[in-house]
Amino acid sequence: MTHYASLTEAACAVLTTPGGRDKATLSRVVAAAWARGEISVLGAAIPPDRPARPGTPELLPPAQMPRRRSAGSTGTRIALLHALAHIELNAIDLAWDLIARFAADDLPREFFDQWVTVAAEEGLHFLLIEDRLAALSAHYGALPAHDGLWEAATETAHDLRARLAIVPMVLEARGLDVTPAMIGRFERSGDEESAAILRIVLRDEIGHVAVGKFWFDYLCARTGDDSPTLWRNLVRTHFRGALKPPFNREAREKAGFPPDLYLGADTTGVSVS
Ligand SMILES: [Fe+2]
Ligand SMILES: [Fe+2]
Repeated sequence: MTHYASLTEAACAVLTTPGGRDKATLSRVVAAAWARGEISVLGAAIPPDRPARPGTPELLPPAQMPRRRSAGSTGTRIALLHALAHIELNAIDLAWDLIARFAADDLPREFFDQWVTVAAEEGLHFLLIEDRLAALSAHYGALPAHDGLWEAATETAHDLRARLAIVPMVLEARGLDVTPAMIGRFERSGDEESAAILRIVLRDEIGHVAVGKFWFDYLCARTGDDSPTLWRNLVRTHFRGALKPPFNREAREKAGFPPDLYLGADTTGVSVS
């Protein structure tokens, strides 16, 4: 049973929980309390600049990360699952940070309902992957992880449209592009359990990209901005890198992301590297 005065206070409780399993579990508990109406006000609690994290994994700059081998050995599969667990833990924090940070932005109840659902699903993804790591005699924290993932949150902390443009509409959309190949790798190495988890992740992530796109368009309509133009401008300003193929056109289409938004001449314009 949770006793949080407001959704932003509960969001901050998730963000300040260091343990991976604890954070993921609390994310799901808070989401259920919100869905049942046990938490009903937004409040105004201020999220931390950086979320609490466990003592391990060691966070390394991207350039110092060990190279992943391409074979289907257990070690390689563990490394891949570990990297995914790290992404999901960041995704939990990103969802609650968005909820707490932008709660004052005069948004409808559905905005919070949908992002709370996203946060619950990210919690499930982490727990599924962590269980799978345990079945392979590993755990989250056993390997180093990449320290670049919170940068997008810091870079876009000032503006909800910038946050939506980068986190769901670039980073999570990129997840749609790369996950089918990962599912294939697990299938080819006979790891059907891991493949099944990634299919759940892919299905849910289509929803997360769709939620991001929906609210980005909503905010653009509110101010009379052209959504594709503003998105490209925000990507150019706040994303260091290129939007690079292959694109999962089918999954992106399901998320309401038409190819003309990310393909063609405009895509090259988006690259800042
Ligand atoms: Fe996820
Ligand atoms: Fe997600």
